[in-house]
Amino acid sequence: MAIKSKPKTIFVCGQCGYESSKWYGKCPQCSSWNTLEEQIRQTSPQASKGLSGGPILERGAQSLGGNFVQPKKLSAITADDKERYHTGLSELDRVLGGGIVRGSLILIGGDPGIGKSTLMLQICQYLGESYSILYVSGEESERQIKLRANRLKVTSDNLSLVSITDIDAVTALIESTVPQIVIVDSIQTMTSSAFTSGAGSITQVRECTQMLIHTAKTADIPIFLIGHVNKDGAIAGPKVLEHMVDAVLYFEGDKHLSFRILRAVKNRYGSTNEIGVFEMGEEGLEEVDNPSKMLLAERPANVSGTCVACMMEGTRPILAEVQALVCKTGFGNPRRMSTGFDYNRLNLILAVLEKRGGLFFGNIDAYMNVVGGLQLDEPAADLPIAVALISAYINRPVPEDLFAFGEIGLAGEFRAVTHGRSRVLEAQRLGFAKCILPMSEKKKLAKETDIRLQLLGVANLGDLLRLLRPKE
Ligand code: TYD
Ligand code: MG
Repeated sequence: MAIKSKPKTIFVCGQCGYESSKWYGKCPQCSSWNTLEEQIRQTSPQASKGLSGGPILERGAQSLGGNFVQPKKLSAITADDKERYHTGLSELDRVLGGGIVRGSLILIGGDPGIGKSTLMLQICQYLGESYSILYVSGEESERQIKLRANRLKVTSDNLSLVSITDIDAVTALIESTVPQIVIVDSIQTMTSSAFTSGAGSITQVRECTQMLIHTAKTADIPIFLIGHVNKDGAIAGPKVLEHMVDAVLYFEGDKHLSFRILRAVKNRYGSTNEIGVFEMGEEGLEEVDNPSKMLLAERPANVSGTCVACMMEGTRPILAEVQALVCKTGFGNPRRMSTGFDYNRLNLILAVLEKRGGLFFGNIDAYMNVVGGLQLDEPAADLPIAVALISAYINRPVPEDLFAFGEIGLAGEFRAVTHGRSRVLEAQRLGFAKCILPMSEKKKLAKETDIRLQLLGVANLGDLLRLLRPKE
Protein backbone atom coordinates (compact mmCIF):
# COMPACT_ATOMS: atom_id res chain seq x y z
CA MET A 1 0.00 0.00 0.00
CA ALA A 2 1.64 3.20 -1.13
CA ILE A 3 1.23 6.27 1.02
CA LYS A 4 -0.08 9.13 -1.08
CA SER A 5 1.09 12.64 -0.34
CA LYS A 6 1.13 15.98 -2.05
CA PRO A 7 4.20 17.11 -3.99
CA LYS A 8 6.11 19.81 -2.16
CA THR A 9 7.87 22.75 -3.75
CA ILE A 10 11.32 23.38 -2.39
CA PHE A 11 14.18 25.61 -3.41
CA VAL A 12 17.65 24.10 -3.64
CA CYS A 13 20.92 25.99 -4.03
CA GLY A 14 22.77 24.69 -7.07
CA GLN A 15 26.10 25.55 -5.47
CA CYS A 16 25.99 24.12 -1.98
CA GLY A 17 22.77 22.07 -1.87
CA TYR A 18 21.05 24.28 0.74
CA GLU A 19 17.32 23.56 0.87
CA SER A 20 14.58 25.96 1.82
CA SER A 21 10.84 26.28 1.44
CA LYS A 22 11.27 29.93 0.39
CA TRP A 23 13.15 31.46 -2.50
CA TYR A 24 16.10 33.72 -1.77
CA GLY A 25 18.12 35.83 -4.16
CA LYS A 26 21.23 35.07 -2.13
CA CYS A 27 21.83 31.64 -0.66
CA PRO A 28 21.84 31.94 3.16
CA GLN A 29 24.43 29.15 3.41
CA CYS A 30 27.07 29.82 0.76
CA SER A 31 26.17 33.45 -0.08
CA SER A 32 26.10 32.90 -3.84
CA TRP A 33 23.59 34.93 -5.82
CA ASN A 34 20.73 33.58 -7.87
CA THR A 35 21.53 29.92 -7.36
CA LEU A 36 18.30 28.74 -5.67
CA GLU A 37 16.09 26.83 -8.03
CA GLU A 38 12.66 25.40 -7.69
CA GLN A 39 12.20 21.66 -7.36
CA ILE A 40 9.14 19.54 -6.85
CA ARG A 41 9.71 16.92 -4.23
CA GLN A 42 7.34 13.99 -3.86
CA THR A 43 7.26 12.87 -0.28
CA SER A 44 5.87 9.44 -1.06
CA PRO A 45 8.72 6.93 -1.13
CA GLN A 46 7.54 5.42 -4.42
CA ALA A 47 7.81 8.71 -6.22
CA SER A 48 11.12 9.80 -4.81
CA LYS A 49 13.19 7.68 -7.20
CA GLY A 50 16.05 9.73 -8.45
CA LEU A 51 15.81 12.32 -5.72
CA SER A 52 18.31 12.37 -2.95
CA GLY A 53 17.31 11.72 0.61
CA GLY A 54 16.12 8.13 0.86
CA PRO A 55 18.73 5.74 2.17
CA ILE A 56 19.81 3.07 -0.24
CA LEU A 57 18.37 0.29 1.88
CA GLU A 58 14.95 1.80 1.41
CA ARG A 59 15.54 1.95 -2.33
CA GLY A 60 16.55 -1.68 -2.41
CA ALA A 61 13.40 -2.57 -0.57
CA GLN A 62 11.22 -0.68 -3.01
CA SER A 63 12.88 -2.31 -5.94
CA LEU A 64 11.61 -5.58 -4.60
CA GLY A 65 8.19 -4.14 -5.18
CA GLY A 66 6.60 -3.79 -1.77
CA ASN A 67 6.67 -1.98 1.52
CA PHE A 68 7.00 -5.13 3.61
CA VAL A 69 10.37 -6.67 3.10
CA GLN A 70 11.64 -9.60 5.07
CA PRO A 71 15.06 -9.11 6.63
CA LYS A 72 17.46 -11.99 6.00
CA LYS A 73 19.54 -13.88 8.53
CA LEU A 74 23.24 -13.07 8.25
CA SER A 75 24.01 -16.74 7.62
CA ALA A 76 21.55 -16.81 4.73
CA ILE A 77 23.37 -14.08 2.84
CA THR A 78 26.15 -15.28 0.61
CA ALA A 79 29.13 -13.01 0.12
CA ASP A 80 32.49 -14.37 -0.82
CA ASP A 81 35.63 -12.31 -0.81
CA LYS A 82 36.78 -14.31 -3.83
CA GLU A 83 34.12 -12.54 -5.85
CA ARG A 84 36.33 -9.48 -6.11
CA TYR A 85 37.44 -8.59 -9.62
CA HIS A 86 41.18 -8.13 -10.05
CA THR A 87 42.27 -5.15 -12.08
CA GLY A 88 45.65 -6.43 -13.24
CA LEU A 89 47.35 -3.64 -11.31
CA SER A 90 48.30 -4.99 -7.91
CA GLU A 91 48.83 -1.46 -6.59
CA LEU A 92 45.21 -0.58 -7.41
CA ASP A 93 43.91 -3.89 -6.05
CA ARG A 94 45.67 -3.29 -2.77
CA VAL A 95 44.18 0.19 -2.37
CA LEU A 96 40.75 -1.23 -3.14
CA GLY A 97 41.22 -3.79 -0.37
CA GLY A 98 41.92 -6.76 -2.65
CA GLY A 99 40.00 -5.97 -5.83
CA ILE A 100 36.71 -4.55 -7.04
CA VAL A 101 33.62 -5.55 -5.07
CA ARG A 102 30.47 -6.19 -7.09
CA GLY A 103 27.77 -3.57 -6.73
CA SER A 104 30.12 -0.99 -5.29
CA LEU A 105 30.49 2.62 -6.31
CA ILE A 106 34.12 3.72 -6.37
CA LEU A 107 35.00 7.37 -6.69
CA ILE A 108 38.40 8.25 -8.15
CA GLY A 109 39.20 11.87 -7.33
CA GLY A 110 42.11 14.04 -8.30
CA ASP A 111 43.27 17.21 -10.00
CA PRO A 112 42.58 17.54 -13.72
CA GLY A 113 45.38 16.02 -15.77
CA ILE A 114 46.75 13.82 -12.99
CA GLY A 115 45.94 10.60 -14.86
CA LYS A 116 42.50 9.42 -13.72
CA SER A 117 41.19 8.65 -17.21
CA THR A 118 44.50 7.00 -18.09
CA LEU A 119 44.31 4.71 -15.06
CA MET A 120 40.72 3.71 -15.80
CA LEU A 121 41.31 3.03 -19.47
CA GLN A 122 44.43 1.07 -18.68
CA ILE A 123 42.71 -1.41 -16.35
CA CYS A 124 40.18 -2.12 -19.13
CA GLN A 125 42.72 -4.24 -20.97
CA TYR A 126 43.13 -6.75 -18.17
CA LEU A 127 39.54 -6.58 -16.93
CA GLY A 128 38.33 -6.93 -20.53
CA GLU A 129 39.82 -10.42 -20.69
CA SER A 130 37.17 -11.65 -18.29
CA TYR A 131 34.43 -9.03 -18.08
CA SER A 132 32.41 -6.77 -20.32
CA ILE A 133 33.05 -3.08 -19.65
CA LEU A 134 31.08 0.04 -20.51
CA TYR A 135 33.13 3.24 -20.56
CA VAL A 136 30.92 6.33 -20.47
CA SER A 137 32.73 9.56 -21.18
CA GLY A 138 31.24 13.00 -20.94
CA GLU A 139 34.61 14.63 -21.44
CA GLU A 140 36.10 13.12 -24.56
CA SER A 141 34.71 11.89 -27.85
CA GLU A 142 34.88 8.21 -28.73
CA ARG A 143 37.65 8.99 -31.21
CA GLN A 144 39.74 10.72 -28.57
CA ILE A 145 39.36 7.76 -26.25
CA LYS A 146 40.33 5.41 -29.07
CA LEU A 147 43.50 7.42 -29.68
CA ARG A 148 44.37 7.21 -26.01
CA ALA A 149 43.58 3.49 -25.99
CA ASN A 150 45.97 3.02 -28.92
CA ARG A 151 48.66 4.74 -26.97
CA LEU A 152 48.00 2.63 -23.90
CA LYS A 153 47.81 -0.52 -26.05
CA VAL A 154 44.26 -1.24 -24.91
CA THR A 155 42.65 -3.42 -27.56
CA SER A 156 40.07 -5.41 -25.60
CA ASP A 157 36.99 -6.40 -27.55
CA ASN A 158 34.95 -6.49 -24.37
CA LEU A 159 35.25 -2.74 -23.95
CA SER A 160 32.41 -0.56 -25.27
CA LEU A 161 32.71 3.21 -25.42
CA VAL A 162 29.97 5.77 -25.40
CA SER A 163 30.21 9.52 -25.27
CA ILE A 164 27.08 10.93 -23.60
CA THR A 165 26.27 13.20 -20.69
CA ASP A 166 22.60 12.44 -20.04
CA ILE A 167 22.41 10.33 -16.90
CA ASP A 168 19.03 8.86 -17.81
CA ALA A 169 20.53 7.58 -21.06
CA VAL A 170 23.47 6.17 -19.11
CA THR A 171 21.32 4.26 -16.63
CA ALA A 172 19.04 3.04 -19.43
CA LEU A 173 22.09 1.84 -21.33
CA ILE A 174 23.42 0.01 -18.30
CA GLU A 175 20.06 -1.63 -17.72
CA SER A 176 19.71 -2.73 -21.35
CA THR A 177 23.26 -3.86 -22.11
CA VAL A 178 24.08 -5.19 -18.61
CA PRO A 179 27.86 -4.73 -18.64
CA GLN A 180 29.87 -6.27 -15.80
CA ILE A 181 31.83 -3.11 -15.03
CA VAL A 182 30.95 0.53 -15.70
CA ILE A 183 33.27 3.54 -15.77
CA VAL A 184 31.79 7.05 -15.74
CA ASP A 185 34.24 9.80 -16.70
CA SER A 186 33.46 12.24 -15.09
CA ILE A 187 30.56 12.69 -12.71
CA GLN A 188 30.80 16.48 -13.13
CA THR A 189 29.84 16.22 -16.80
CA MET A 190 26.70 14.15 -16.20
CA THR A 191 23.34 15.88 -16.11
CA SER A 192 19.80 14.90 -15.39
CA SER A 193 17.10 16.63 -17.39
CA ALA A 194 14.92 16.73 -14.26
CA PHE A 195 17.01 19.63 -12.98
CA THR A 196 17.73 22.91 -14.60
CA SER A 197 21.06 23.66 -12.94
CA GLY A 198 24.20 23.23 -15.01
CA ALA A 199 26.50 20.22 -15.19
CA GLY A 200 28.85 20.06 -12.23
CA SER A 201 26.52 21.85 -9.81
CA ILE A 202 25.91 20.23 -6.47
CA THR A 203 22.33 19.31 -7.34
CA GLN A 204 23.30 17.62 -10.60
CA VAL A 205 26.30 15.81 -9.18
CA ARG A 206 24.33 14.55 -6.21
CA GLU A 207 21.32 13.40 -8.19
CA CYS A 208 23.40 11.72 -10.90
CA THR A 209 25.42 9.88 -8.25
CA GLN A 210 22.24 8.84 -6.49
CA MET A 211 20.89 7.36 -9.72
CA LEU A 212 24.13 5.51 -10.37
CA ILE A 213 24.13 4.13 -6.82
CA HIS A 214 20.64 2.84 -7.43
CA THR A 215 21.73 1.18 -10.67
CA ALA A 216 24.91 -0.27 -9.14
CA LYS A 217 23.10 -1.79 -6.19
CA THR A 218 20.11 -3.18 -8.05
CA ALA A 219 22.07 -4.58 -11.00
CA ASP A 220 25.03 -5.62 -8.80
CA ILE A 221 27.54 -3.92 -11.08
CA PRO A 222 30.62 -2.09 -9.84
CA ILE A 223 30.74 1.49 -11.10
CA PHE A 224 33.83 3.67 -11.16
CA LEU A 225 33.14 7.38 -10.97
CA ILE A 226 35.80 9.87 -11.89
CA GLY A 227 35.52 13.16 -10.02
CA HIS A 228 37.55 16.29 -10.43
CA VAL A 229 38.75 18.01 -7.33
CA ASN A 230 37.89 21.69 -7.14
CA LYS A 231 40.07 24.52 -5.92
CA ASP A 232 39.46 23.72 -2.26
CA GLY A 233 40.46 20.10 -2.71
CA ALA A 234 36.95 18.71 -2.30
CA ILE A 235 35.21 16.62 -4.94
CA ALA A 236 32.36 18.82 -6.18
CA GLY A 237 31.62 20.88 -3.13
CA PRO A 238 31.62 20.11 0.55
CA LYS A 239 32.19 16.39 0.49
CA VAL A 240 28.75 15.72 -0.98
CA LEU A 241 29.86 12.66 -2.84
CA GLU A 242 32.20 11.14 -0.33
CA HIS A 243 29.57 9.88 2.07
CA MET A 244 27.37 8.53 -0.71
CA VAL A 245 29.81 6.16 -2.39
CA ASP A 246 31.46 2.99 -1.06
CA ALA A 247 35.08 3.89 -1.68
CA VAL A 248 36.90 7.13 -2.34
CA LEU A 249 40.37 6.98 -3.85
CA TYR A 250 42.43 10.10 -4.40
CA PHE A 251 45.00 10.21 -7.14
CA GLU A 252 47.69 12.67 -6.14
CA GLY A 253 51.11 13.80 -7.18
CA ASP A 254 52.91 16.74 -8.65
CA LYS A 255 51.85 17.16 -12.27
CA HIS A 256 55.40 18.07 -13.19
CA LEU A 257 56.86 14.92 -11.66
CA SER A 258 56.11 11.44 -12.88
CA PHE A 259 55.38 10.03 -9.43
CA ARG A 260 51.67 9.38 -8.62
CA ILE A 261 50.12 8.12 -5.39
CA LEU A 262 46.71 6.52 -5.16
CA ARG A 263 45.33 6.82 -1.67
CA ALA A 264 42.10 5.48 -0.19
CA VAL A 265 40.36 8.02 2.02
CA LYS A 266 37.27 5.90 2.49
CA ASN A 267 36.72 2.22 1.82
CA ARG A 268 33.76 0.18 2.99
CA TYR A 269 35.52 -3.01 1.87
CA GLY A 270 39.07 -2.54 3.03
CA SER A 271 41.61 -0.52 4.93
CA THR A 272 42.20 3.15 4.19
CA ASN A 273 45.83 2.83 5.15
CA GLU A 274 47.09 1.50 1.87
CA ILE A 275 48.59 3.49 -0.94
CA GLY A 276 49.46 2.54 -4.49
CA VAL A 277 52.44 4.07 -6.24
CA PHE A 278 52.62 4.64 -9.99
CA GLU A 279 54.86 6.35 -12.45
CA MET A 280 53.43 8.16 -15.48
CA GLY A 281 55.38 7.22 -18.57
CA GLU A 282 55.09 7.34 -22.33
CA GLU A 283 52.79 4.35 -22.35
CA GLY A 284 50.62 5.25 -19.41
CA LEU A 285 50.94 4.43 -15.76
CA GLU A 286 53.41 1.90 -14.53
CA GLU A 287 53.35 0.32 -11.12
CA VAL A 288 56.24 1.09 -8.83
CA ASP A 289 56.90 -1.95 -6.66
CA ASN A 290 59.78 -0.35 -4.89
CA PRO A 291 59.08 3.37 -4.44
CA SER A 292 61.99 3.86 -2.04
CA LYS A 293 64.48 2.75 -4.65
CA MET A 294 63.06 5.21 -7.15
CA LEU A 295 63.02 8.06 -4.65
CA LEU A 296 66.61 7.50 -3.64
CA ALA A 297 67.94 6.97 -7.16
CA GLU A 298 69.39 10.43 -7.68
CA ARG A 299 70.77 11.00 -4.21
CA PRO A 300 73.94 13.09 -4.24
CA ALA A 301 76.97 11.46 -2.65
CA ASN A 302 79.13 13.07 -0.01
CA VAL A 303 77.16 16.29 0.36
CA SER A 304 76.30 17.84 3.69
CA GLY A 305 72.69 18.53 4.63
CA THR A 306 70.96 15.40 3.40
CA CYS A 307 69.59 12.47 5.32
CA VAL A 308 67.26 9.59 4.47
CA ALA A 309 63.98 9.39 6.35
CA CYS A 310 61.68 6.41 6.62
CA MET A 311 57.99 7.13 6.73
CA MET A 312 55.03 4.81 6.91
CA GLU A 313 52.37 5.01 4.24
CA GLY A 314 49.76 2.79 5.76
CA THR A 315 51.50 -0.45 6.50
CA ARG A 316 54.21 0.20 4.00
CA PRO A 317 57.56 1.82 4.82
CA ILE A 318 58.89 4.27 2.24
CA LEU A 319 62.32 5.83 2.30
CA ALA A 320 62.79 9.37 1.11
CA GLU A 321 65.58 11.87 1.14
CA VAL A 322 65.30 15.10 3.11
CA GLN A 323 67.60 17.98 2.26
CA ALA A 324 68.55 21.03 4.27
CA LEU A 325 70.48 24.09 3.24
CA VAL A 326 71.64 26.74 5.67
CA CYS A 327 73.41 29.95 4.82
CA LYS A 328 74.10 33.31 6.43
CA THR A 329 71.22 35.77 6.33
CA GLY A 330 72.06 38.61 3.96
CA PHE A 331 69.65 41.17 5.21
CA GLY A 332 66.88 41.45 7.81
CA ASN A 333 65.14 38.49 9.38
CA PRO A 334 66.42 34.99 8.62
CA ARG A 335 64.39 33.16 5.98
CA ARG A 336 62.83 29.78 6.50
CA MET A 337 61.35 27.70 3.72
CA SER A 338 59.94 24.21 3.77
CA THR A 339 58.70 21.98 0.95
CA GLY A 340 57.07 18.68 1.85
CA PHE A 341 57.28 19.29 5.59
CA ASP A 342 55.20 21.42 7.93
CA TYR A 343 56.66 24.93 8.15
CA ASN A 344 55.81 25.39 11.83
CA ARG A 345 57.28 22.03 12.72
CA LEU A 346 60.52 23.09 10.99
CA ASN A 347 60.60 26.23 13.13
CA LEU A 348 60.03 24.12 16.22
CA ILE A 349 62.93 21.80 15.36
CA LEU A 350 65.15 24.82 14.73
CA ALA A 351 64.17 26.24 18.12
CA VAL A 352 64.97 22.93 19.85
CA LEU A 353 68.34 22.72 18.03
CA GLU A 354 69.14 26.24 19.20
CA LYS A 355 67.96 26.00 22.79
CA ARG A 356 68.92 22.40 23.61
CA GLY A 357 71.78 21.84 21.20
CA GLY A 358 73.45 25.24 21.19
CA LEU A 359 73.32 25.62 17.39
CA PHE A 360 72.54 29.28 16.73
CA PHE A 361 70.13 29.82 13.82
CA GLY A 362 69.31 33.46 14.66
CA ASN A 363 71.23 34.89 11.69
CA ILE A 364 71.02 31.87 9.43
CA ASP A 365 68.53 31.12 6.62
CA ALA A 366 67.26 27.55 6.62
CA TYR A 367 65.70 25.79 3.63
CA MET A 368 64.19 22.34 3.81
CA ASN A 369 63.08 20.07 0.98
CA VAL A 370 61.66 16.57 0.72
CA VAL A 371 62.72 14.98 -2.56
CA GLY A 372 60.14 13.52 -4.93
CA GLY A 373 57.23 15.80 -4.07
CA LEU A 374 56.35 13.75 -1.01
CA GLN A 375 54.74 15.14 2.09
CA LEU A 376 56.23 14.05 5.42
CA ASP A 377 53.57 14.55 8.03
CA GLU A 378 54.67 11.98 10.56
CA PRO A 379 56.49 12.85 13.80
CA ALA A 380 59.03 10.18 12.78
CA ALA A 381 60.39 12.68 10.24
CA ASP A 382 61.71 14.98 13.02
CA LEU A 383 64.93 13.11 13.61
CA PRO A 384 66.08 12.85 9.95
CA ILE A 385 65.25 16.54 9.52
CA ALA A 386 67.29 17.42 12.59
CA VAL A 387 70.16 15.27 11.24
CA ALA A 388 69.98 17.05 7.86
CA LEU A 389 69.94 20.48 9.54
CA ILE A 390 72.86 19.65 11.83
CA SER A 391 74.82 18.17 8.93
CA ALA A 392 74.21 21.35 6.92
CA TYR A 393 75.10 23.53 9.90
CA ILE A 394 78.41 21.82 10.65
CA ASN A 395 78.99 21.24 6.93
CA ARG A 396 79.75 17.56 7.32
CA PRO A 397 78.04 14.90 5.21
CA VAL A 398 76.43 11.96 6.97
CA PRO A 399 77.34 8.49 5.67
CA GLU A 400 75.40 7.47 2.56
CA ASP A 401 74.23 4.22 4.09
CA LEU A 402 72.64 5.90 7.10
CA PHE A 403 68.97 6.66 7.69
CA ALA A 404 67.02 7.98 10.68
CA PHE A 405 63.57 8.04 12.24
CA GLY A 406 62.17 9.32 15.54
CA GLU A 407 60.24 12.12 17.16
CA ILE A 408 61.78 15.17 18.84
CA GLY A 409 60.42 16.49 22.13
CA LEU A 410 60.71 20.10 23.27
CA ALA A 411 63.27 19.15 25.89
CA GLY A 412 65.55 17.88 23.13
CA GLU A 413 64.73 14.23 23.87
CA PHE A 414 64.00 11.64 21.20
CA ARG A 415 60.89 9.53 21.41
CA ALA A 416 59.93 6.20 19.94
CA VAL A 417 57.44 6.05 17.06
CA THR A 418 55.27 3.26 15.66
CA HIS A 419 56.41 0.51 13.26
CA GLY A 420 60.11 0.76 14.18
CA ARG A 421 60.78 -2.81 13.11
CA SER A 422 59.25 -2.49 9.63
CA ARG A 423 61.15 0.72 9.00
CA VAL A 424 64.48 -0.83 9.94
CA LEU A 425 63.84 -4.00 7.92
CA GLU A 426 62.87 -2.04 4.81
CA ALA A 427 66.05 0.06 4.99
CA GLN A 428 68.10 -3.07 5.58
CA ARG A 429 66.56 -4.64 2.48
CA LEU A 430 67.65 -1.62 0.47
CA GLY A 431 71.22 -1.93 1.66
CA PHE A 432 71.40 0.62 4.47
CA ALA A 433 73.94 -0.21 7.14
CA LYS A 434 73.32 2.32 9.91
CA CYS A 435 70.24 3.70 11.58
CA ILE A 436 69.94 6.62 13.98
CA LEU A 437 66.93 6.02 16.18
CA PRO A 438 65.64 6.95 19.64
CA MET A 439 67.40 5.01 22.42
CA SER A 440 64.13 3.52 23.69
CA GLU A 441 63.43 2.16 20.20
CA LYS A 442 66.91 0.68 19.99
CA LYS A 443 66.40 -1.22 23.25
CA LYS A 444 63.19 -2.66 21.83
CA LEU A 445 64.79 -3.71 18.56
CA ALA A 446 68.06 -4.98 20.01
CA LYS A 447 66.48 -8.38 20.69
CA GLU A 448 65.38 -8.88 17.08
CA THR A 449 67.66 -11.39 15.43
CA ASP A 450 66.84 -10.51 11.82
CA ILE A 451 68.07 -6.94 12.20
CA ARG A 452 71.67 -6.88 11.09
CA LEU A 453 72.29 -3.18 10.48
CA GLN A 454 73.97 -1.06 13.10
CA LEU A 455 71.52 0.65 15.46
CA LEU A 456 72.79 3.97 16.76
CA GLY A 457 70.51 4.87 19.66
CA VAL A 458 70.29 8.51 20.74
CA ALA A 459 68.41 9.57 23.87
CA ASN A 460 68.66 13.31 23.35
CA LEU A 461 70.13 16.05 21.19
CA GLY A 462 73.45 15.90 23.07
CA ASP A 463 73.88 12.26 22.00
CA LEU A 464 73.03 13.12 18.41
CA LEU A 465 75.52 16.00 18.27
CA ARG A 466 78.27 13.80 19.70
CA LEU A 467 77.49 11.22 17.04
CA LEU A 468 77.48 13.64 14.10
CA ARG A 469 80.29 15.87 15.31
CA PRO A 470 82.91 13.55 16.82
CA LYS A 471 85.81 15.31 18.50
CA GLU A 472 88.76 15.67 16.17
P1 TYD B 1 44.44 12.07 -17.90
O1 TYD B 1 44.25 10.64 -17.61
O2 TYD B 1 43.75 12.63 -19.09
O3 TYD B 1 44.08 12.97 -16.65
P2 TYD B 1 42.68 13.19 -15.91
O4 TYD B 1 41.71 12.23 -16.49
O5 TYD B 1 43.00 12.93 -14.48
O6 TYD B 1 42.32 14.60 -16.14
O7 TYD B 1 46.01 12.30 -17.99
C1 TYD B 1 46.50 13.29 -18.71
C2 TYD B 1 47.97 13.46 -18.51
O8 TYD B 1 48.70 12.25 -18.54
C3 TYD B 1 48.47 14.31 -19.61
O9 TYD B 1 49.15 15.40 -19.04
C4 TYD B 1 49.37 13.44 -20.40
C5 TYD B 1 49.76 12.35 -19.47
N1 TYD B 1 49.94 11.05 -20.14
C6 TYD B 1 51.21 10.53 -20.23
O10 TYD B 1 52.18 11.11 -19.78
N2 TYD B 1 51.36 9.29 -20.82
C7 TYD B 1 50.33 8.60 -21.34
O11 TYD B 1 50.52 7.50 -21.87
C8 TYD B 1 49.01 9.18 -21.25
C9 TYD B 1 47.82 8.47 -21.81
C10 TYD B 1 48.87 10.39 -20.63
MG1 MG C 1 40.10 12.72 -17.72
